[in-house]
Amino acid sequence: MNDDLVLEVRDLEVKFFQDVGTVHAVNDVGFRVREGQSVGIVGESGCGKTISTYSVLRLLPNNAVITKGEVLYRREDGRVIDLTKGDADGELIRSIRGKEVSMIFQEPMSALSPVHTIYSQMSEALMLHTAATPEKARERAIEMLRLVGISAPEQRIDEYIFQLSGGMRQRVMIAMALMCNPRVLIADEPTTALDVTIQAQVLKLIKKMQDEFGLALVLITHDLGVIAHMTEYVYVMYLGQIMEEGPVSEVLVEPKHPYTRDLLRSIPKISSRNAPLAPIRGTVPDAYQVPKGCPYAPRCANVIPNVCTEARPRRLSVGDDHFARCFLYDEKRPTAPVGSEATSSSDETPDVSAANGSKKERND
Ligand SMILES: Nc1ncnc2c1ncn2[C@@H]1O[C@H](COP(=O)(O)OP(=O)(O)OP(=O)(O)O)[C@@H](O)[C@H]1O
Ligand code: SF4
Ligand SMILES: [Mg+2]
Repeated sequence: MNDDLVLEVRDLEVKFFQDVGTVHAVNDVGFRVREGQSVGIVGESGCGKTISTYSVLRLLPNNAVITKGEVLYRREDGRVIDLTKGDADGELIRSIRGKEVSMIFQEPMSALSPVHTIYSQMSEALMLHTAATPEKARERAIEMLRLVGISAPEQRIDEYIFQLSGGMRQRVMIAMALMCNPRVLIADEPTTALDVTIQAQVLKLIKKMQDEFGLALVLITHDLGVIAHMTEYVYVMYLGQIMEEGPVSEVLVEPKHPYTRDLLRSIPKISSRNAPLAPIRGTVPDAYQVPKGCPYAPRCANVIPNVCTEARPRRLSVGDDHFARCFLYDEKRPTAPVGSEATSSSDETPDVSAANGSKKERND
């Protein structure tokens, strides 16, 4: 693990073992974040964004198993620990969860208790992790509520979550996540359930908190606009795998992977409102049966027959700190059998012109 990293997930694999079959939710996923950096994870619904990040804090449902990989976390004293080791409810992970690494959940109503006041939920983590007295915890909770823009926090703190609007609940969850001054904040679709104006306010607030506290931020979303505004580096996920990763300024401007390009093309643009939308054809396949080749092959317009469907592409360098898993960039890709469609027609020849970076084998 590089010295500047605070969190590094390596080769993570998570499966759900069920009577009806095995769900391959996360396959060989890796992502990294430095102190103070903001990274994004983007992808369609069901691609494994939540399960990847739940693995970091060992918050997985009971039927999920981490079958491979490491979650390396650097503590303040410099020691690196693997959070996949040990009991999911053990002392070590409990000492980190909510204190050093905190999470804003996708669904505030399922993450917050309807039967406890805001005060009792906000103070719980602080009193658990520090020697704070109830009075000190109350003081800190009021301060955090004020910071996230809740008016009259002295009164609000004794209310219940159902008494708040959606935007306010999300603010409370942000305040709660920051109670213990964490080093890493994972925000899972923090604004999906909100209307656009409140969305913008909440995102602005997260950014402000990140700057103010020097947090390492991992932001999960299906919205590339949010990625563009909020993050420096992005991981594009598809069917439990990272398809492309790189600086946001490169990935969104010059995407290399066909999936990223298709995602970008599918965003409606106000400036061209008469132009037809270009949704990605088909849907994300079932995670019970991950294709043996490239997971995007069934939907990819650039698919190389008998190549993309047969083997899994490697992670290749396609630019400065920019990687993609796609055979279009692989000089050593397996060749299709003679006489197959891949070699028979020039129309089938993939467009590799976009592969303008050096092509190296995986170098992590
Ligand atoms: N409790 C569960 N039991 C079985 N499979 C599950 C469970 N939770 C998630 N999965 C499966 O794991 C895969 C990854 O799901 P995950 O929730 O991480 O997706 P996501 O990218 O966060 O989607 P969304 O954008 O809808 O939140 C999916 O195939 C999903 O069906
Ligand atoms: S490996 Fe093949 S199928 Fe997969 S994205 Fe690249 S061109 Fe498309
Ligand atoms: Mg999710």
